[in-house]
Amino acid sequence: MIFAAILAGGIGSRMGGTDIPKQFLTLGDKPVIVHTIEKFVINEKIDKIIVLTPENFVNHTNHLIEKYIPNAEDIVVIEGGQTRNDTLLNSIEYIKENFGIDDESIIITHDSVRPFVTHRIIEDNIQAARKYGACDTVVPATDTIVESINGETIESIPVRDYYYQGQTPQSFKIKTLFNLINSLTEEESNILTDACKIFTLKDEDVHLVEGEVTNIKITYPYDLKLANTILEDIHD
Ligand code: CTP
Repeated sequence: MIFAAILAGGIGSRMGGTDIPKQFLTLGDKPVIVHTIEKFVINEKIDKIIVLTPENFVNHTNHLIEKYIPNAEDIVVIEGGQTRNDTLLNSIEYIKENFGIDDESIIITHDSVRPFVTHRIIEDNIQAARKYGACDTVVPATDTIVESINGETIESIPVRDYYYQGQTPQSFKIKTLFNLINSLTEEESNILTDACKIFTLKDEDVHLVEGEVTNIKITYPYDLKLANTILEDIHD
């Protein structure tokens, strides 16, 4: 089976000054999260879409889906976790309890606040996760990367050609991800901020999928303005 996990369990603290998490703010004529879910609904290969939100937004999200998304029977809304990683773990737990974990199934994990993910990116993720077991969506770094450990002086300036910016989706064979998570020591679990890092920590390959510069993450108020501009551009 192919599962999509839309990670919407955050509170968007960097967005500032809003009553609701950024994934529920309006972009164009509907909430950001609706744009994102729609991108997965139109992919016929996906069997189940799991949306994970803060506990007090589960009902709200169900109402939004009812209002905006026809034929939503393959979507389920459940509670996310304390951190992004905990939210991801909740999605795996849900899959384990309701469908079991087999050798072939894959999970496409995506930030709810990246509403401009494309059909092509999702298709490439499905293909790469099936073939290689794990993939990350990236774009080449455009700015020079500067490393500083003390925040005051430069340690090194790595060769830009080797550096990419990570986007989402990140997609995996669920069984491999599940086994790797269970093999982590407590120390390893604590430093874990990214699902692909679990694979690299355990010397497993993570294939690169080409992202898009428009596949932005809405983090700060400026990003929402930019998102509105991108949306207008798409509709032109
Ligand atoms: N996320 C999640 N569960 C969490 C934290 C984050 O599912 N406990 C999701 C967010 O909802 C978002 C994505 O992970 O879709 C990317 O995270 P980020 O932009 O950092 O979102 P927030 O944690 O909400 O933002 P902030 O760090 O500004 O509070």
